Amino acid sequence: MGTGQLPRIHLPSPSQKGSISLEQAIAQRRSIRDFTPEPISQSQLSQILWATQGITDTSARLRAVPSAGATYPLEIFVVCGQNSIEEIGEGIYHYNVAHHSLTLHHEGDVRLDLAKVVLYQEFIYEAPVDIVICGLYQRTTLDYGSRGERYVHMEVGHAGQNIYLQATALGLATVAISAFYDEQVREVLRLDKQYKPLYIMPVGKPARS
Ligand SMILES: Cc1cc2nc3c(=O)[nH]c(=O)nc-3n(C[C@H](O)[C@H](O)[C@H](O)COP(=O)(O)O)c2cc1C
Repeated sequence: MGTGQLPRIHLPSPSQKGSISLEQAIAQRRSIRDFTPEPISQSQLSQILWATQGITDTSARLRAVPSAGATYPLEIFVVCGQNSIEEIGEGIYHYNVAHHSLTLHHEGDVRLDLAKVVLYQEFIYEAPVDIVICGLYQRTTLDYGSRGERYVHMEVGHAGQNIYLQATALGLATVAISAFYDEQVREVLRLDKQYKPLYIMPVGKPARS
């Protein structure tokens, strides 16, 4: 992807204490499609990304989400506008798992372009942030052959559920989106062919509580 040399935006350290229990988060979790355009904080984004793929075992480099053979086929992109995340400009950012940081992948607000290839689900550009989870199948199929593809799909489900639960615990809204045109999403995100978009999850404050 060539983002290795770009300056990193270091995210605040994630917290392991929340204001509601896991059981409450499971009970309250809902797909919410109405967002206010208000920005989310860097701490909130940090928390969401940590829950999606953050490192939770620093010695073995294991992550918040299980992965077949710890092959970690998922890559996370954050799509945002000018006033989406406090002190972060508009663009597409790549989540760097090892450093819990962001690197700018492409400058500019592409949320409207993204919404057009996500069957005009307008909340894609109404939400301040869209988390895009892509799979790189070969990381897992190298070890598991074609069965590895199924493992990637299972893993993205784990990641998506963690986003749902973390968003709920933070009082934020989200919904798992998979109805989109893969190739066009890749084009909007300026990604190579090996990146397969699997889930798009808008995140923001709910318009109705
Ligand atoms: C694999 C998958 C794909 C989904 N795709 C979409 C989608 O493209 N658009 C959408 O609005 N909701 C989508 N959803 C959300 C479901 O509509 C939602 O989970 C369902 O209505 C149950 O509601 P709940 O999540 O509030 O329990 C998807 C959910 C899953 C698990």
